Amino acid sequence: MGNRRLLFLLGVLAVNFLLFQSILVPYGNGNAPWSSVPQKYDNVRLSLHSTPKYFTVRNPPTGTVSGFSNSSAFIATVQKVHIPIVVDEVGHGKKKGMHNNVKGGLVSERNGSDDNVFEHGADRNDVRSLSEKKDVGKGDRLELESVGSKNFIADSAKGSKVDFSVKQFLETKRGASRLVKDNNMDSREHDGVGVHTSDSSTFSTNLENSPQKIVFSASDNSTAVSIPRRKMRCMMPPKSRTLIGEMNRILVRKRASARAMRPRWSSKRDLEILAARSEIEHAPTVTHDKELYAPLFRNLSMFKRSYELMERTLKVYIYKDGNKPIFHQPIMKGLYASEGWFMKLMEENKHFVLKDPAKAHLFYMPFSSRMLEHALYVRNSHNRTNLRQFLKDYTDKISAKYRYFNRTGGADHFLVACHDWAPYETRHHMEYCIKALCNADVTQGFKIGRDVSLPEAYVRSVRDPQRDLGGKPPHQRPILAFYAGNMHGYLRPILLKHWKDKDPDMKIYGPMPHGAASKMNYINHMKNSKYCICPKGYEVNSPRVVEAIFYECVPVIISDNFVPPFFEVLNWDAFSIILAEKDIPNLKQILLSVSQEKYLKLQLGVRKAQKHFFWHVKPLKYDLFHMTLHSIWYNRVFQIKVR
Ligand SMILES: *[C@@H]1O[C@H](CO)[C@@H](O)[C@H](O)[C@H]1NC(C)=O
Ligand SMILES: *[C@@H]1O[C@H](CO)[C@@H](O)[C@H](O)[C@H]1NC(C)=O
Ligand SMILES: *[C@@H]1O[C@H](CO)[C@@H](O)[C@H](O)[C@H]1NC(C)=O
Ligand SMILES: *[C@@H]1O[C@H](CO)[C@@H](O)[C@H](O)[C@H]1NC(C)=O
Ligand SMILES: *[C@@H]1O[C@H](CO)[C@@H](O)[C@H](O)[C@H]1NC(C)=O
Ligand SMILES: *[C@@H]1O[C@H](CO)[C@@H](O)[C@H](O)[C@H]1NC(C)=O
Repeated sequence: MGNRRLLFLLGVLAVNFLLFQSILVPYGNGNAPWSSVPQKYDNVRLSLHSTPKYFTVRNPPTGTVSGFSNSSAFIATVQKVHIPIVVDEVGHGKKKGMHNNVKGGLVSERNGSDDNVFEHGADRNDVRSLSEKKDVGKGDRLELESVGSKNFIADSAKGSKVDFSVKQFLETKRGASRLVKDNNMDSREHDGVGVHTSDSSTFSTNLENSPQKIVFSASDNSTAVSIPRRKMRCMMPPKSRTLIGEMNRILVRKRASARAMRPRWSSKRDLEILAARSEIEHAPTVTHDKELYAPLFRNLSMFKRSYELMERTLKVYIYKDGNKPIFHQPIMKGLYASEGWFMKLMEENKHFVLKDPAKAHLFYMPFSSRMLEHALYVRNSHNRTNLRQFLKDYTDKISAKYRYFNRTGGADHFLVACHDWAPYETRHHMEYCIKALCNADVTQGFKIGRDVSLPEAYVRSVRDPQRDLGGKPPHQRPILAFYAGNMHGYLRPILLKHWKDKDPDMKIYGPMPHGAASKMNYINHMKNSKYCICPKGYEVNSPRVVEAIFYECVPVIISDNFVPPFFEVLNWDAFSIILAEKDIPNLKQILLSVSQEKYLKLQLGVRKAQKHFFWHVKPLKYDLFHMTLHSIWYNRVFQIKVR
């Protein structure tokens, strides 16, 4: 018990340390009108200094508590620190997980920096089966990697950078110290509680609009509090449904007419993009390609031409403004890894990135929606206003400091965010930006033809993101359909109601049992199944889609309003089955009606599609990094207006 408490304190401290690292680093003050010299360190310092022994116990190098000025030293240590955020989502299975953490991860320093996130059964299973819940919880450890930290510091030292940080934000909100304290308290509360940690993720957008309240009582009696909660949007069927056929029509319509704002003044870049557009529209016909499997694409000729032109033309400017941890701090592991990998690879990129914003076609705002929640969400507050406000302030500052945002209203700016809340956080102030989102939900403002559906690729091993890849050949897949997972959202209970224990061909389960073998069991099921059912969870997206592709199982996506990844270029009919939610009762019939010939084509399509869903430490042609950047580029190309 003592151990566990200590563990929590350490975790909390480590997180705070990171959080405030950005505050305490004395950046050049610069000339930015809003960059105020931090004045009220007291609270922050207090919380760090009052418990220095924990730091030294935990991690000797953090003796830099007294040497904050050496920021590079700190960042160097950060790379090795696994920040344990030991919050359990479901309550059970937690204690064991924590225990393991103590032994294997936290107290004794780990040697490798990857592979071990879910080394123990309970957590592994949680994640497998709770795939959808990307909360801070579940024993998931943040893998913070200091990407380009040297550049980052060098840039900030120049003093030209906007000193936009969490602390500053909180200070301007006055209640700063309170918020900070609440965060601490909250994390600590979760020791042995395991109650509402899922709140942050379960409850969804539009809270403001749902006045009803429901009473939620904890399953653990020791803390059986009843907390008034607003009715969760994510627990109710959507009011409107857009199915895949309609999405296709919308895309065609949007392609026919550019929608972006007419720029306030003209730029040579606009003309370059316009020229590219014309070339793409008149692309030479390509029917076969060595590297690309034609059936996967809506139009291979256009894709290929567009990709070439991207490589040749596109230049991206990355705003240096904004401090860690929310900006420039990629999280490389877990369910949100897609935003982290993109950020890291983009910031490292030499080919597309340029230093002179005047020459850029696109502008990247490199924040992490994952860290935003982590740093600013007050647990159990059910209030995400802060998070949105933070990004609004950032956007205001960017648009005041540089002339580029206002030129197009943000239409040539983009963001890449995988957290469920990203649509909410970026609404209004980033309205016209190109948003690459995992939560690609047309009822949450996702605009087909402008926004990009970002694959939610669960990364377990940073060194080997493609671990366990592959599966049985199509003839050796005895299971017709497989699903296992928790009952998130309203849809999965419907799936189980119809198919759990109903039919030996349909392996439809609830949560996989806990245990060390659980993850392999889950993966083996995918490797042995013809079809992998990917029903929506709390939100429309699910990491199962990419998992199915990894294990060469044809994904069956059941999630109305979900725009599948890279919708603008990929032809999902070639390697998946997309069903309407109302089709669940006929699921087996529908799957059986697919001919063997057609199935073989689909399965081949899955294998051919794999490479487009891989992250590589050094990006390869047509991989996930390039596909993401390409879709952003492609959408800009077809939206652009010129003056
Ligand atoms: C900061 O850390 C770097 C690398 O660890 C070291 O070379 C440098 O001397 C340190 N500077 C100060 C002021 O401590
Ligand atoms: C990591 O540590 C384990 C034992 O704790 C050891 O078996 C393994 O070889 C080490 N790996 C590396 C890469 O050092
Ligand atoms: C929890 O509360 C229920 C009813 O309120 C009671 O039946 C049960 O025994 C309690 N469990 C524990 C572990 O106290
Ligand atoms: C692909 O796009 C090109 C250029 O717009 C067009 O000429 C061609 O007909 C399209 N091919 C298909 C298969 O739609
Ligand atoms: C949410 O938080 C903001 C400030 O962070 C506050 O102004 C607002 O009143 C809060 N909303 C609710 C419903 O509590
Ligand atoms: C851009 O527009 C905003 C709001 O309209 C304004 O506050 C800001 O000063 C403008 N930026 C520039 C560089 O003029």
